[in-house]
Amino acid sequence: AVNLKGRDFLALADFKPEEVRYLIDLAVELKRKQKAGDTYQPLKGKTLGMIFEKSSTRTRVSFEVGMYQLGGHALFLSKNDLQLGRGETVWDTAQTMSRYLDGIMIRTYAHRTVIELARGATIPVINGLTDYAHPCQALADYQTVLEHKGRLEGLKIAYIGDGNNMVHSLMVGAAKLGLHMSVASPEGYEPDEDLTRQAKDMGTETGSTIQVVRDPREAIEGADIVYTDVWASMGFEAEQKEREIAFKNYQVNEELVKYAKADYVFLHCLPAHRGEEVSAEVIDGSHSIVFDEAENRLHAQKAIMAAIM
Ligand code: CP
Ligand code: NVA
Repeated sequence: AVNLKGRDFLALADFKPEEVRYLIDLAVELKRKQKAGDTYQPLKGKTLGMIFEKSSTRTRVSFEVGMYQLGGHALFLSKNDLQLGRGETVWDTAQTMSRYLDGIMIRTYAHRTVIELARGATIPVINGLTDYAHPCQALADYQTVLEHKGRLEGLKIAYIGDGNNMVHSLMVGAAKLGLHMSVASPEGYEPDEDLTRQAKDMGTETGSTIQVVRDPREAIEGADIVYTDVWASMGFEAEQKEREIAFKNYQVNEELVKYAKADYVFLHCLPAHRGEEVSAEVIDGSHSIVFDEAENRLHAQKAIMAAIM
């Protein structure tokens, strides 16, 4: 049986395929309980600190609500209000917080900050997004696909756009869960090469294949799932103009989705920019499941917290 008590949740790469699948199945189960009105409060009396160095709508609300539903309490901690913002070290912050809390969620820039925090903490740490990875989102995404398609193994996911945190976590997730993944990014914006290699290696265990190509039409050909994300992620706002030029042929629109399977589903982690990475027709159209996806952040993160805290 899978037991994740006390583990950190920093990246999907740290988990075995059966552990990732366990979290998804638990998320589905906790969602069912919630909809049935069954209370499930394994975290009664527990507290989660949520450190935010970047903006958030979904992550903040879903973690806070999720913790409440599990019987616990969450604290919103903006970096500027913490001594962290005045130069207190990540290590000292981690040590101190471990004396009060039962878990920490952090959204930050550098991935090594999250790793440092987890090293300094004696309680589980959850990655709520770094420049490198967004594992909570990928978990919710695959839960959403499972609910809509009834399976994960053997499906094809196409990711069109920036080689960012989102595509990294989706690639590792695909490898762990046995999906085939095709990524199309413009030159200079490809996903991290080391991570791509690692994801390909991990995929040999599950039969997953991963490829990175240039042409969005090639990537989307025959896809069951079409995914895109913003062209300029948080922290890259200054590059907006040059990115609009680099990504101009990478918009997911009616023309491009013709190459996907007729029953494809469209996902986007949100927030979205209609008219940039995706057309309004696609994201607001009948194939789009972006709000089921957003909802599942709640259920997937409840699964993570219930499992590790
Ligand atoms: N998808 C996501 O993480 O959204 P927020 O930035 O609103 O938390
Ligand atoms: N890639 C985006 C995801 C936001 C949830 C960003 O990092 O801004």
